[in-house]
This record gives sequence, C-alpha cells and structure tokens, in this order.
Amino acid sequence: MSEITEEMIFQCFAAAQSSPDAVRTAESFVDVEEYENQIMYPEFARWAKSAGYPQLATLFMKVAGEEKLHAVWLRELYEDIGVPERGEDTQRAVDALTTIQANCDALIAMNPDGVVEKALRVAISVEEREYRDIYPRFRDQAQARGDLREAEVYQRVVDSEAQHADWFRAALADFEAGRVAAAAH
Ligand SMILES: [Fe+2]
Ligand SMILES: [Fe+2]
Repeated sequence: MSEITEEMIFQCFAAAQSSPDAVRTAESFVDVEEYENQIMYPEFARWAKSAGYPQLATLFMKVAGEEKLHAVWLRELYEDIGVPERGEDTQRAVDALTTIQANCDALIAMNPDGVVEKALRVAISVEEREYRDIYPRFRDQAQARGDLREAEVYQRVVDSEAQHADWFRAALADFEAGRVAAAAH
C-alpha cells in the first residue's frame, strides 16, 4: 500500500486554490464556507463512499450541510456592513472539479483507507484552525468595535466548528480502531 500524506490530499485540490496562504478577511470566509459546502466535504464524502465507508460519507455530508448554514449566517452579517467577495475561489473549484476528482481517484486507487484516514485528519485540522484561531479572532475584533450582534454570530460559528472537530476526532478514533463498518462489496 502506498503511503498517503495530508499534503497529497491538499494537492488533490490544487487546481482550485489560488494561494492557500492568502491572508483572508472575515468577508472572504463566506467563500471558504461555500467551498467546504460545495467542494471539499462532498469530495471527502465521495471518497469515503468509494472506499466503502458509507457512515463516514454521511458524516461528511452532514458537516457539508452545516457549512452552508455558516455561509448564510456570515452573508447576512455582510449585507449590513459591506459587500462580501463573491465566491471566486468556490467558482474556480467548481470549474476545476473534474481535475480534482481525477487527482483524488488516483489516490483512492493507490490506498483507499489511507485516503479516508488523511481526509479525516485534514478535516480536523481545518476545523481546529477555524474554531481555535480564525473565528475567535473575528469575534474579538467585532467585540472590540462594540458590534455585539456580529460577535454573537462569530461565536455561533466557533461553537459549530468545534463540534465538527469533535465529530471528526471521534470518527478518526473509531476508524483507527476498526470500529467503522465497511459496506459490503
Ligand atoms: Fe464552517
Ligand atoms: Fe466546519
């Protein structure tokens, strides 16, 4: 079995990304949420399903649905305070989806369990960054400006992302212990 790395998972999506290190403003996170909703988590779900783990596919799709909610909450916020960026990154990813899927299918063919495990690890690190760093920072900035309604929305996102990280950590522990049921082939 070939070794799969988190870097290889990120590389699958390379065709969709302008610059992973770009400094993002609060407004641009509408696009990040849309990206997770439309591209990243549905892809992870597709991989889990093709690797034979429908329960994990269901978890990825459940989280994808909640990322859509986050985009809606944030968009409402920015309708008051300014126009957010309009989904350029997500659109680029949608355009590149065929390439992304071909890249990922090659990895799955190499080592399906390794891909699923690393997808869970990537999901955990994405969620951890959001609930520990990104959204608390936006919340504190809003608080410092005295915009308590905005701060409250960010706190709601923090709580939700923390729950996603919990779910994925539990799923990874189950997966590593062989407790995730595989579909019959
Ligand atoms: Fe989110
Ligand atoms: Fe999330």
